[in-house]
Amino acid sequence: MIERIVNPATDDKDIPEQEIEQTIRPRDFANYIGQDRLKQNLQLAISAAKKRGEPLDHVLLYGPPGLGKTTMATVIANEMGTTIRVTSGPAIERAGDLASILTNLQDNDILFIDEIHRLHRSVEEVLYSAMEDFKLDIMLGKGPSARSLRLDLPRFTLIGATTRTGSLAAPLRDRFGLVHRLEFYRPEEVRKIIERAAKILSIKIDKKAAETLAVRARLTPRIANRLLKRVRDYADVNGDGIIDHLTGLKALELLEIDELGLDPADRMLLTAIIENHNGGPVGVETLAALTGDERGTIEDFYEPYLMQIGLLERTPRGRKVTPKTYQHLGRKPTTTDSQQTIL
Ligand SMILES: Nc1ncnc2c1ncn2[C@@H]1O[C@H](COP(=O)(O)OP(=O)(O)OP(=O)(O)O)[C@@H](O)[C@H]1O
Ligand SMILES: [Mg+2]
Repeated sequence: MIERIVNPATDDKDIPEQEIEQTIRPRDFANYIGQDRLKQNLQLAISAAKKRGEPLDHVLLYGPPGLGKTTMATVIANEMGTTIRVTSGPAIERAGDLASILTNLQDNDILFIDEIHRLHRSVEEVLYSAMEDFKLDIMLGKGPSARSLRLDLPRFTLIGATTRTGSLAAPLRDRFGLVHRLEFYRPEEVRKIIERAAKILSIKIDKKAAETLAVRARLTPRIANRLLKRVRDYADVNGDGIIDHLTGLKALELLEIDELGLDPADRMLLTAIIENHNGGPVGVETLAALTGDERGTIEDFYEPYLMQIGLLERTPRGRKVTPKTYQHLGRKPTTTDSQQTIL
């Protein structure tokens, strides 16, 4: 896969990036910018839980990558004053692995399971009684002599994160008391996130440049922080390290990120829909074949943002571009294209 600066996923191999993430990751509600409704709901639930001296209800956070699900999980733990244990769906291979994680928790601890939609079915089933009754059912032995044992678990809070609620089994989803979607950020919120990160990293950026970066960061904090660092590199090499508006624009041009935050891969995808499929509708599998990505990559990375800004539409017959797409790419719809678009 092509390395994309606008890819909202993390790069596990990028150690410096991870370290920087640690320093700029907000730790409390006051520093967590945006997502106001989510914050209000959580603050209420946290205050209530604290008042009653109970653990917080299980929380499910979903939404496109890079919007701050993991960050919110750590914020919740800090606000509750509890310990957080972090793992992920694919990391828990067997029911026994989950059993040992659960039995090692303390009362009120938070267990964060990232990519919870990727839990194995057998593991997921163990989670049901753990979430509901704080009990662990384990089977001892096999065959006719097998018997089951019920263990008490500490009263923990599960926080699950997923980019797709659709692939979450209903019995699992239903066991979360608080289910919240993270929304794309408003440009002025992204600007604040950039300015906050710049301050922590001692990067000098003027307001206009921060605004420009914010608009092109796909309304996503992770991309905003990443763009900030790349633009800083540019300013360090080509100037005095200060990011002013012009420097910002030049750096973004070099990175081939346009006014809407699209990179060459996005433009290629949209152009392919127009040129090869008259603007669509076209199935997601076909799109994956066009770009050489996996279906999941299209659904998780490309689509949410392109749909958010109105360059792509999902219809029952597939994906199609919009009049805005033609406009953005500087193309005129052909007759058949425009008919398709109006349909
Ligand atoms: N509301 C926010 N305010 C300030 N910074 C934020 C906010 N949300 C996220 N960030 C920054 O963006 C980065 C990405 O956030 P995070 O890792 O929480 O995303 P995520 O939703 O868990 O993504 P993924 O789905 O890929 O796991 C964090 O390092 C953090 O610094
Ligand atoms: Mg995460």
